[in-house]
Amino acid sequence: MHVNAKTDIYGIIGHPIGHSLSPFIHNAAFESVNLNSVYVSFDVHEENLKDAILGIKALGIKGINVTVPHKENVMKYLDYISDEAKLIGAVNTIKNNNGILEGYNTDVTGFTESLKEHDIVVEGKNAVILGAGGAARAVAVGLSLTGVKSIMIANRSKEKARNLSNYIKNNLGINCIDVTYDDLNQLEEIDILVNVTSVGMFPDINLSPVDESIAVKAKFVYDIIYNPEKTQLLSYAEKHSIRNLNGFDMLINQANHSFKIWTGMNFNKNIILNTLKKKDFVK
Ligand code: ATR
Repeated sequence: MHVNAKTDIYGIIGHPIGHSLSPFIHNAAFESVNLNSVYVSFDVHEENLKDAILGIKALGIKGINVTVPHKENVMKYLDYISDEAKLIGAVNTIKNNNGILEGYNTDVTGFTESLKEHDIVVEGKNAVILGAGGAARAVAVGLSLTGVKSIMIANRSKEKARNLSNYIKNNLGINCIDVTYDDLNQLEEIDILVNVTSVGMFPDINLSPVDESIAVKAKFVYDIIYNPEKTQLLSYAEKHSIRNLNGFDMLINQANHSFKIWTGMNFNKNIILNTLKKKDFVK
């Protein structure tokens, strides 16, 4: 990378931000298509969010990814919000279009595209989502937009599960209910089981959001965690020969969509995967 007076600046804002893989992904992507651009991370506290967004315009930063905890709050500072971002109520990608700040959400398409790439059929299926945070909302919206028949949302905090299920019912017209983790014991089978909690993520790699007895009911298990590559939940699925997927493809796909919004180009996913492998992020 050769930084000079003409280098375009991109980045990510969030808090904390130290573990983000986005700088590695986007810098590798810029290099792969010979763009004179650099991507850096900005640790932005809640009280500085407005100034940070104004700074995008003032400094002529070309594009920004937004992560936890700013995805919802950032919306009020933007000049335009895409329909998809409005629907999900969160922005993860900002494009500075000649001083006009445009907000997009690439989490939903990142998720649905990964299902499509692996030929997972969603139409007419019954899904169970574990978790009710921001990522769970993107997954629930994604499943709803791709024709899921019903969704059950199980979450530690019952109130958050209720809020998300009401949101999906009212805004997407999908049969969606909130349940407890205990309720899952009553189910006979689960077409699609998605973990969108942080349970099982490094360093707590021996934890699983549900027991093996629940995992075996699933016909397909998706864990959006990518570190470790195979969570305890996915090990249960493997043990019982159940199709499964980790969160790596969703990460790469949402990054690629942001890259496309900024540059008009797709990046080569294999090049990015190899870069991450070299850095030991992916085994
Ligand atoms: P994100 O934007 O990644 O979804 P989040 O909004 O903090 O992040 O959501 C994290 C999810 O993991 C939530 O569903 C959370 O459950 P609560 O809403 O009850 O907090 C879930 N989660 C995190 N730690 C958990 C744990 N130890 N047991 C069960 N669920 C957990």
